[in-house]
Amino acid sequence: MANTQFPSDFLWGAATAAFQIEGATTRDGRAPSIWDVFCATPGKTKRGDTGEPACDHYRRWKGDIELMREVGLQAYRLSVSWPRVMPSGRGDVNPAGLDFYDRLIDGLIDAGIAPMVTLYHWDLPAALQMEMGGWIHPDMPKLFADYAQVIYDRLADRVKMWITINEPWCCVDGGYFHGGHAPGIRDRRLGYLAGHNLIRAHAYAVQRYRAHENGKGKISFALNTTFSYPASDTPEDAAAAERAMLDFGGWFTDPPHFGDYPAVMRERLGDMLPEFSAQDAALLRGSMDYLALNYYLSDTVRHAPGVGHMEIERSFDPAYEKTQMGWPIVPDGFFRLLKWLNSRYQGLPVYITENGAACDDKPDAGGFVDDQDRIAYLADHLAAIAAARREGVDVRGYYVWSLMDNLEWSEGLSKRFGIIRCDPQSQERTIKASGHWYREVINGNGAPALARATWKTDPADNRAKALATEDR
Ligand code: FCB
Repeated sequence: MANTQFPSDFLWGAATAAFQIEGATTRDGRAPSIWDVFCATPGKTKRGDTGEPACDHYRRWKGDIELMREVGLQAYRLSVSWPRVMPSGRGDVNPAGLDFYDRLIDGLIDAGIAPMVTLYHWDLPAALQMEMGGWIHPDMPKLFADYAQVIYDRLADRVKMWITINEPWCCVDGGYFHGGHAPGIRDRRLGYLAGHNLIRAHAYAVQRYRAHENGKGKISFALNTTFSYPASDTPEDAAAAERAMLDFGGWFTDPPHFGDYPAVMRERLGDMLPEFSAQDAALLRGSMDYLALNYYLSDTVRHAPGVGHMEIERSFDPAYEKTQMGWPIVPDGFFRLLKWLNSRYQGLPVYITENGAACDDKPDAGGFVDDQDRIAYLADHLAAIAAARREGVDVRGYYVWSLMDNLEWSEGLSKRFGIIRCDPQSQERTIKASGHWYREVINGNGAPALARATWKTDPADNRAKALATEDR
């Protein structure tokens, strides 16, 4: 089947994050991150799982690149562990840590795999949390930019795709609102402050990149958000759903594009929401070269008078099947979200920097997992991308989450997202059915996914499901 729905230079990749795969948390001068501290605190992660040994990738990286090659990946998104490179978070650089990433990048390039590097995927050096309170401190953006500079100096000659910070919303929601993620704080005001400094940190790191002699690639902020369907066709619910989207995706996408928070957040949050200085706002505006979107699920929102600042109530529509995380599977929401983002943040190409499913994998005696459920999830989400592309959304690449089963933060090892199985005891890797299937998808530039999808790529077929949102 001829496939014109993904352009010939569409980038097919997979993603991971340092803390979730590297292990070697005390080796070669690495210092603890807030996630090491969090995992070591009883009751914080399922079964007390920690970053040790995770996937032992720090030692097994060569074999892992071989596996990437077997799957046929064209691109790989990894993150750099700040406490491995700068154990105290500032000041001295740890050469052994930096060397590790240098070798990894060379290895990827030798294998013909384009690296995308995330500078911060949640593993803040614990020293910065203890000594200055972490992201709530106003000096953090400058310290982050100093760290970013060290990484650019070493890697920017070869790395052309960058992400400053992964999912700032999760850093705040998990780290500061409900406290289920490191550093485990529960204080909304501090959360908005931490979020503010994460946004400023992004801008400062982008400024350094663009000023760098090797800063010729593309840099962005990786955002996670949902599409919010109105719970009914009343105008109140439609307005609530729109507010919900601004309060989630808009919170961290408006500032780096427009230079300030969405107006509705300013109106409703009042002095909970810090102000950007004129200088910071200027740095922020246009600070994303592309939109980096991590998509997993969508929700339903109703107008809830008096509930919180936003007066919204989110729920999951029971009509949808769920992944092992309990997240509803909504490819239609992915399609709607891409269109929503494209109309609000115009002119930016889009890369899907994470998308995937935790499934109840059942390895056979040989360790092979026939994960048809994950394949179905991926196929439908790729179809949603094709549909969005057809409606003018310039999606240029896709990174499946994740390359291999890994440490799913507070869920520990209990949730498996990989297209490659990683046995936590033996560390044996086995490509799952989804990994073999993904190789076919890459070889066929998306066509096998569209053939397999049950979510129809012609938006007209899905329209009935989304009537209430049609004009948004
Ligand atoms: C995202 C994170 C990623 C992974 C997936 C399942 O929020 O960025 O590290 O845990 O969820």
